[in-house]
Amino acid sequence: MTGSSDILGAERARWLVTGAAGFIGSNLVEALLRGGQSVVGLDNFATGHPRNLDEVRAQVGETAWAGFEFIRGDIRDRETCRQAVQGAHYVLHQAALGSVPRSLAQPLDSFDANVDGFVKMLTAARDAGVRRFVYASSSSVYGDSPELPKVEERVGRPLSPYAATKCANELFAEVWARSYSMQCVGLRYFNVFGPRQDPDGPYAAVIPKWAAAMLRGEPCEINGDGQTSRDFCYVANAVQANLRAARSSVPMAAHEVFNVACGERITLVELFVALKAALGRLSPALAQRLTAMEPVFRAFREGDVRHSLASVERAGRLLGYQPSHRVAQGLDEAAGWYLDSAKRAPMSADFPL
Ligand SMILES: NC(=O)c1ccc[n+]([C@@H]2O[C@H](COP(=O)([O-])OP(=O)(O)OC[C@H]3O[C@@H](n4cnc5c(N)ncnc54)[C@H](O)[C@@H]3O)[C@@H](O)[C@H]2O)c1
Repeated sequence: MTGSSDILGAERARWLVTGAAGFIGSNLVEALLRGGQSVVGLDNFATGHPRNLDEVRAQVGETAWAGFEFIRGDIRDRETCRQAVQGAHYVLHQAALGSVPRSLAQPLDSFDANVDGFVKMLTAARDAGVRRFVYASSSSVYGDSPELPKVEERVGRPLSPYAATKCANELFAEVWARSYSMQCVGLRYFNVFGPRQDPDGPYAAVIPKWAAAMLRGEPCEINGDGQTSRDFCYVANAVQANLRAARSSVPMAAHEVFNVACGERITLVELFVALKAALGRLSPALAQRLTAMEPVFRAFREGDVRHSLASVERAGRLLGYQPSHRVAQGLDEAAGWYLDSAKRAPMSADFPL
């Protein structure tokens, strides 16, 4: 299996990572700095945290950290985009407001960040003449298509404002690529998880939210009957896909989209069992405490698709992408981070960690 450094090669290029203080963005920054690259990070801390960057600094060490420059700013501001992308060879555009429920509650906020901000960043990248603009799309673009596995050529109708913003990203990137001779690559992430994914707040994703609940002795809620399935993708796989998408020398169309996933699906009930097992492997005391824990079922959630499974054949063929981590391996690798993160939060006297 090739690592980040093999994909990056010997050239020290300059990268702009937007959403750098977020979950996927901070993991990208970490991989790039480890690979000796020069990185500019842009974030307005809407949902990201300075502590994520502190963690990256601690992980990569001071020498690699010297290659990082952070801009606190907003992608909805043209001038900020222009400054951030100056001199960049590659853009990895992650900044957006995630979450289907958030977009249903606050559609204009999602539109502003995910569409208006996106087009401003894309245009700034055009003006700066970057080699490639790689951006975060989403499995949500498959919408109501029942077909499994999902293949890039066939999408359904979007089921939420969030999904509409990601469809719009693909449309604008395709048109900008054609109109301005840009190279753009959209990565349709499927339920990414791993260290630094925020466990808190009303729009937290299921894995960090459940891990925190399990470790704090709180109930884990399953939306629906638990048979909903997802292709959960460990963040190292998403990082690999980004680096490959940027650096690939295989001839590609000016605009390409790729699924980024494991190519396997598990149900929420299976995920619950696998996560309990991964956390239980951290210590016998935790394992014992978690055995009796059962999920709490509640109503299905509006806008959620029932099943999701990606074909990663195209990413494999054109980018050489091969998931390095299956779900269980990813959960094992992330478990320590979930524990450290839970220790930072106020703790129940019944569940000391
Ligand atoms: N995590 C997943 O499973 C998943 C799945 C599909 C798509 N995505 C997409 O991947 C990208 C990264 O997601 P994530 O899970 O790391 O989320 P995240 O919320 O952790 O990261 C997004 C980052 O973007 C920043 N941001 C938001 N609006 C901004 C603005 N106007 N200006 C500057 N920065 C801004 C936030 O502060 C945050 O740090 C997003 O585009 C998201 O839609 C994620």
